[in-house]
Amino acid sequence: MNQTGKNLYDQNQIISSLDKLKHWEKIYQTKDFTEVGWYQKTPTVSLSFFEEFKIHKEAKILDVGGGDSYLVDHLLDLGYLHVYVLDLSAKAIEKAKVRLGKDASKVTWINTDILDFEPKEKFEVWHDRAAFHFLLDPKEIENYVRIANESISEDGLMLIGTFSDQGPTHCSGLPVTQYSIEKLTEVFSPYFQKTNCFQTDHITPGGLRQHYTFCSFRKI
Ligand SMILES: C[S@@+](CC[C@H](N)C(=O)[O-])C[C@H]1O[C@@H](n2cnc3c(N)ncnc32)[C@H](O)[C@@H]1O
Repeated sequence: MNQTGKNLYDQNQIISSLDKLKHWEKIYQTKDFTEVGWYQKTPTVSLSFFEEFKIHKEAKILDVGGGDSYLVDHLLDLGYLHVYVLDLSAKAIEKAKVRLGKDASKVTWINTDILDFEPKEKFEVWHDRAAFHFLLDPKEIENYVRIANESISEDGLMLIGTFSDQGPTHCSGLPVTQYSIEKLTEVFSPYFQKTNCFQTDHITPGGLRQHYTFCSFRKI
């Protein structure tokens, strides 16, 4: 048990919920978006998913752990009408809102830990790039999968991107769970069927190569 009363996983890698929040607030308070490893001016893989599945413009889209990513800017430019961005960090959301200016009001912003998320509506698309992999505790992973299942509409789609089994062990200084295609498919298999998975390198602003696993799933 830690001070917040939450039990977290690996003895050596424990980070309490409070520390997790502090960590992300500090990252977004002290670093410019272009300085962080996950920065992408154009999130090509994520956008190709919207094209591949011909996601219609009225679809409710939830970007989990969206931070101040540019995905939302691109989705608005493409004419998507119902974009939701969820993040643990209030500072990340504030930065994204400032960047978007008046367009920020077109987005629904949700400031919460995904594990505390109680959806009031269903989403046709669930997107998560580099947030899910921070969950280490099998119970938390199970909870995430359950919450995704409860939040996604019948026949809805999900795109998840994590560090791969060949990728880095840490992201933003925090330990991550690495996923092979098989492992990611297995984790979501209780409620989701794989549609397409692949692995690819992301090059960080500092020139480092990070190997990712991306999978799209359809709700069973
Ligand atoms: C590595 S960044 C990725 C940001 C964005 N998805 C992208 O690809 O540019 C991880 C993001 O997930 C958020 N995050 C981490 N754990 C979270 C959780 N349990 N619930 C909600 N957001 C979380 C962080 O605040 C951060 O914005």
